Amino acid sequence: EIAFYMDQFVGINDKVVPIQERGHQFGDGIYEVIRVYGGQPFLLEEHLDRLEKSAEALSLVMPYSREKLRDIILEGLKRSEIKDAEIYLQITRGIGARQHHYPEVSAVFSLTVRQAKNIDETKRMEGIKVMLTEDIRWSLCYIKSLNLLPNVMAKQEAISSGNDEAVFIKNGIVTEGSSSNLFVVKDGELYTHPATNGILHGITRAKVMELAKKVGFNVREEQFDEEFLLNGDEAFITGTSTEVLPIRFIGDKELSKERPIVDRLVGEYQRLYKN
Ligand code: PDD
Repeated sequence: EIAFYMDQFVGINDKVVPIQERGHQFGDGIYEVIRVYGGQPFLLEEHLDRLEKSAEALSLVMPYSREKLRDIILEGLKRSEIKDAEIYLQITRGIGARQHHYPEVSAVFSLTVRQAKNIDETKRMEGIKVMLTEDIRWSLCYIKSLNLLPNVMAKQEAISSGNDEAVFIKNGIVTEGSSSNLFVVKDGELYTHPATNGILHGITRAKVMELAKKVGFNVREEQFDEEFLLNGDEAFITGTSTEVLPIRFIGDKELSKERPIVDRLVGEYQRLYKN
């Protein structure tokens, strides 16, 4: 395990964040989670693109050039000596006397590299349980911001009630999971919420859409409601650490064990990094 704060590599448990750090006091910052397979960061450029988009939305000036950022990430990975890692990147507005409006300070970059936690393969075979919960988040969910309380609360509600993920419903529409995107399969076609401000534009989501089209499935980025989800033939979530993960139960509703399309996509996705 290794970490990086401001301009140097540090121990992951070192006390390095000053009390007036904007990330600490306001959640004024953004982040990314990147998976590393066999020593190779997967879809790194896509994650850096999204990080830049999040930064722009908050008028955060990146503390380093993209090249420097990439160098720090790769150096951290090397120092960690972890082959299957999860990289966490964070940029906060910086350190300044507490005030709401943006102070004139330099943004702070931090990083952790830890062993990735693999999803239990029996879960991937059997499918997970999800619960539905109201989407109480703000209206700019495409920004990967540090303000994750609604997500944290929803996930806690899911885990403490024996589920694996919470799925958000906003005004009757299924948006996404607390830390994942969601797809439904109906009559051979894939449905997922369009990439609006209402969801995080998942890197895995985009990759899975691309793969699905490549192998001949139609993908519809359309809004759908709770009833449509419950009547889906198959359903799954996507995310950097979860990859493609089938859903077996939505609340009390049990979906079929036959999941030809999800199983195909699980395999196609894993083929991208396994070889
Ligand atoms: N979460 N939706 C939300 C709300 C998320 O937090 C995430 C990722 C996703 C999936 O995005 P991607 O495919 O780019 O990982 C969708 C990360 C992994 C996290 O917070 O740990």
